[in-house]
Amino acid sequence: MSIELHEKEAVPALREALGYVARHRGEVFVIKLESGLLEAPVFQSLMRDIASLHRMGIRVVVVPGSRRQIDAMLRTWEVESPMAGEVRVTTEEAMPFVTLAAFDVCNRIMTHLAESGANALIGNWVKARGLGVLDGVDYLLTGSVQSLRTEILRQLMGQEFVPIVPNIGWNSAGRPYNVSSTQLAMELAVQLGASKLFFLCDEKPQVGPDLVLPEDVERGDGGMLSSLNLGQAEEFLATNASKIGQPYCDYLRRALEACRKGVRRTHILDGQEDGALLREIFSQDGQGTMVFANEYDHIRRAEVRDVPDILRIQEPYVAQGVLLPRTAEQIEAKIGDYVVHEADGFIQGSAALHPFPDGSAEVAAVAVAEHLRRFGVGRKIVQFLLQKAMRMGYDKVFLLTTQTSDWFADLGFERGDLADLPQDKVSAYDIKRRSLVFVRTIRRSGV
Ligand SMILES: CC(C)(COP(=O)(O)OP(=O)(O)OC[C@H]1O[C@@H](n2cnc3c(N)ncnc32)[C@H](O)[C@@H]1OP(=O)(O)O)[C@@H](O)C(=O)NCCC(=O)NCCS
Repeated sequence: MSIELHEKEAVPALREALGYVARHRGEVFVIKLESGLLEAPVFQSLMRDIASLHRMGIRVVVVPGSRRQIDAMLRTWEVESPMAGEVRVTTEEAMPFVTLAAFDVCNRIMTHLAESGANALIGNWVKARGLGVLDGVDYLLTGSVQSLRTEILRQLMGQEFVPIVPNIGWNSAGRPYNVSSTQLAMELAVQLGASKLFFLCDEKPQVGPDLVLPEDVERGDGGMLSSLNLGQAEEFLATNASKIGQPYCDYLRRALEACRKGVRRTHILDGQEDGALLREIFSQDGQGTMVFANEYDHIRRAEVRDVPDILRIQEPYVAQGVLLPRTAEQIEAKIGDYVVHEADGFIQGSAALHPFPDGSAEVAAVAVAEHLRRFGVGRKIVQFLLQKAMRMGYDKVFLLTTQTSDWFADLGFERGDLADLPQDKVSAYDIKRRSLVFVRTIRRSGV
């Protein structure tokens, strides 16, 4: 019995995931892995997940960080390589060890991907230049990305290889530079036209209680900020820059830059959490921080092609007797009255505002997909309809409900009676159903 229930519960999640699979096929994802993940218990399953993404047709590029391995190598060989803040000053003496460590990390990733059925390649695709002297510090062989050989990378991805890009670049004279893997991942994402850039951290970035969050930005269950549009990310950085720990601050800056330059979304994830990458890609309940460039969710007028989704969302509530049954034809006939809440190309909820000749309008068929309840979708839809009613000049909005009175009361609706309904609605009133009437007067100054 419990297995049956469990299986049923899994169905919406499976449908959701399948929708994402179809959507992401052929897209480019750039994934930066922080160096500590190589020693983490989740490393093998992470490699399997990346190989699975590749096998399902997503074009994956992996950019490993190698800070810890470089530190270990330099310690072993007792080579000095000072830090200037968070940035390593790479000396001539340290550079061979830096290169060795960076390539060793890539090799380990390549081996694990191969074990999981994905062919990877490590290569020299980065042209770099030295950082030079900044604020009186000569960074020696620490460099930044100058250009990338994106054509070759595209060809390799087209031939089903996963490029692994070490954090080493060369100048035209063949001199190697130690570059930031965060900057490298960002540049790759921009220049390869990636739809997603991932920063997988080896420690969960903490957003302390002292930080000031922009309006409408919330902490997710795991304590990280959940999603930020570009304006919110900018505001958050401007207000809190001095208080945000590295590398979260650096990731947010790079995420902002990537999204400004055309990457649709950048995700900062706790890579130690098993399945974090998959949850972020294939469901809407990821735990990471997402910086997004486009409108992530919105409410729009429904179209006839949305009718199957509207019916699917209503179905369980009709079965419970909470909503009246409607056929596809009935919905189609009034499709202009319906709105849908869409996120990531998926319809999450819908409702209708039916106009009546007496200057009132009915809010009807409000429904939110079962697994997405309690995320504020229903509230947003009803508020949207109230705004719409105001714009369209209605004086009053009413609705009939049997089991959702308290929810509508919280949204400012008041208990009414049959006298509040337009004549047509009174004639059609189902005495047996005994629905309660709720009304809300529309004030011109706002709803
Ligand atoms: C009612 C409904 C539209 C709310 O959508 P939603 O996206 O989950 O709503 P929100 O996230 O904006 O609000 C959630 C809050 O409403 C509360 N709520 C949900 N259904 C409720 C109900 N029937 N009665 C009272 N409160 C309810 C939740 O407990 C939650 O409260 P909390 O945040 O304090 O825990 C959704 O639950 C639904 O589709 N229900 C079935 C269909 C229905 O009843 N439609 C209305 C008849 S026209």
